[in-house]
Amino acid sequence: MSSQNKKRFSHETLETNVGLLIIFSIVVILFAGLAQIVPLFFQHSTTTPVAGAKPYDSLQLIGRDLYIREGCVGCHSQQIRMLQSEVQRYGPYSLSGEFVYDHPFLWGSKRTGPDLARVGKRYSDDWHRVHLRNPRDVVKESNMPAYPWLQRNTVEGSNVQARMKALRAVGVPYTDEEIAKAPEQLVGKTEEDALVAYLQSLGVATRAAAEQAVAEGRR
Ligand code: HEC
Repeated sequence: MSSQNKKRFSHETLETNVGLLIIFSIVVILFAGLAQIVPLFFQHSTTTPVAGAKPYDSLQLIGRDLYIREGCVGCHSQQIRMLQSEVQRYGPYSLSGEFVYDHPFLWGSKRTGPDLARVGKRYSDDWHRVHLRNPRDVVKESNMPAYPWLQRNTVEGSNVQARMKALRAVGVPYTDEEIAKAPEQLVGKTEEDALVAYLQSLGVATRAAAEQAVAEGRR
């Protein structure tokens, strides 16, 4: 009797007690998560913008919010991995310093369509417009949805200044002047204009820095 009471706490105790197993699993996952995530906040290469990185201008910023609203991230990643096949298909692999002004990140985890991290300037603006209105008009077998309403909705009068101020609060270096001038850039523009401006900016300004990193084998 007494020898049973004194039974030591063993792995078997854990494995046979669902409540304990759940609690300990959570503790282990939390600890492992922190061990991986916390150092990233202090690592130079993940917190410093790469050469060429700059905040989105007001039209691109509105376009980015539309990208989120329309759920594009559900089918498109924006993250080129360090694999030969990816680099050949999409361009130089993504560096963390390219995304320092992205709040939230749109890396995504699903690729029903191609990765878009470097889609900027790959097609003309007109190609994007036709593609967004009806993807089948340019890629016959495409299963991407059509977004015909974007060309009809205006972005004039949107709360872009408030959005820029919110981003500034989390570290995006918008100047007072940029915020003051932001609405001007939206005059007469449609949602389609904004989304195309955003797509055309993806991976362009930082491409040279990424190419150099790939050549040197850096991350
Ligand atoms: C249901 C999944 C799905 C959704 C949602 C989706 N796409 Fe696509 N997208 C695809 C597929 C599949 C392709 C490849 C065929 C094609 O070009 O249409 C593609 C291709 C593209 C391309 C061309 C990429 C290249 O390198 O050729 C762009 C740009 C694009 N999508 C942008 C968008 C944007 C912007 C949105 C949101 C407004 C969006 N997609 C939503 C599936 C999707």
